[in-house]
Amino acid sequence: MAKKPVCLLVLYSGGQHAKDQPKLLGAVENELGLKKFIEDHGYELIATSDKDGPDSTFEKYLPEAEIIITTPFFPAYVTAERIAKAPNLKICITAGVGSDHVDLNAANKRGISVIEVTGSNVQSVAEHAVMTMLVLIRNYNIGHQQYLNGGWDVAAVAKDEYDLEGKVVATVGAGRIGYRILERLVPFNVKKLLYYDYQPLPAAAVEKINAASKLYNDVDVILEQVDSLEALVAEADIVTINCPLHEQTKGLFDKALISKMKKGSYLVNTARGAICDTDAVADAVNSGHIAYGGDVSSIQPAPKDFPWRKMHNPFGFDYGNAMTIHTSGTSLDAQARYAGGVKQILTEYFDKTYKYRPQDVICIDGDYATKAYGQRDAAKK
Ligand code: NAI
Repeated sequence: MAKKPVCLLVLYSGGQHAKDQPKLLGAVENELGLKKFIEDHGYELIATSDKDGPDSTFEKYLPEAEIIITTPFFPAYVTAERIAKAPNLKICITAGVGSDHVDLNAANKRGISVIEVTGSNVQSVAEHAVMTMLVLIRNYNIGHQQYLNGGWDVAAVAKDEYDLEGKVVATVGAGRIGYRILERLVPFNVKKLLYYDYQPLPAAAVEKINAASKLYNDVDVILEQVDSLEALVAEADIVTINCPLHEQTKGLFDKALISKMKKGSYLVNTARGAICDTDAVADAVNSGHIAYGGDVSSIQPAPKDFPWRKMHNPFGFDYGNAMTIHTSGTSLDAQARYAGGVKQILTEYFDKTYKYRPQDVICIDGDYATKAYGQRDAAKK
């Protein structure tokens, strides 16, 4: 009997949590709820968390894999070397948003489709980014730690605690997440919202935010596009990063750019860790220049000695560090959405109709299908 084609699914381990919470579809034990569906289409499903290193289960099944499905939260890195070891690979599906864990140029060279579930967790991440801003600006962590530890030193918290109201907030990238963050900030009566993106927002989207500002703040124009990244970070009290990781954004927030940020300002990155230079961020936090928060690290899981795990602003115990593990986009609500999206993509693939939602397609037929991954200048599709 001919061997079945392999669908390789890499997800984080859920252990007992996966048994306790059946809605935890993103855990390897629950297989996105798609085991029967995939097997009914004649595929062998290999679901694993063992993703790193040459002896991993992931590497073992590469030669037979036709489909790879993984998440950004616990990514199987599909490098050029690994693609070379997978001669049957036809499609990489991201259960979530952000496909930088795949070497997209290498995928294009082989004509491997890269499809993600665009929009599936953008609201989840926008909420998390706003929460992180509040955690930092309200100096929440210090007070929380004190409460747990029996303390009551109000001054230690209040000396670095501010309001979001009246601040200038800027986003680098004003796509689905960046825009939702801007929308959610209007009712906080911020002073100004800035954005930097080579794709300008549609006029109606700008008008919607300005109209909300009129309603909440009686200010007619709150949103401005800024052409220079340096000018943007120099003006902002809070900068949030919401662009994809690609060749032009890797290490974008380096020592030089961070040095242009206001002293005492906040940098929130729920996009991708590698958009920031790891050491430059740690130095800026440890020296008291900025505070930093987010949920993404350049290597995931971040090693125990990763500099961002220990960085802290000298003004307080852990003031300046609002990092968490990559969970912003994997709320249970988001899991239901991205599992459903993966099923839809697989349906198109299994039925050979290939009518993927256009916004989900990152690479197809050997080329990029989106401008969001830095193909602006290459003037591709
Ligand atoms: P999107 O495609 O809707 O928006 C991205 C925006 O970034 C686009 O408007 C694009 O023009 C802009 N952009 C690209 N390169 C840029 C550059 N060099 N400078 C300024 N702007 C640039 O994507 P969406 O849904 O808003 O997601 C953005 C990123 O957030 C994803 O690519 C992913 O890396 C990350 N993400 C993180 C999640 C998490 O759980 N932490 C979950 C979902 C997404």
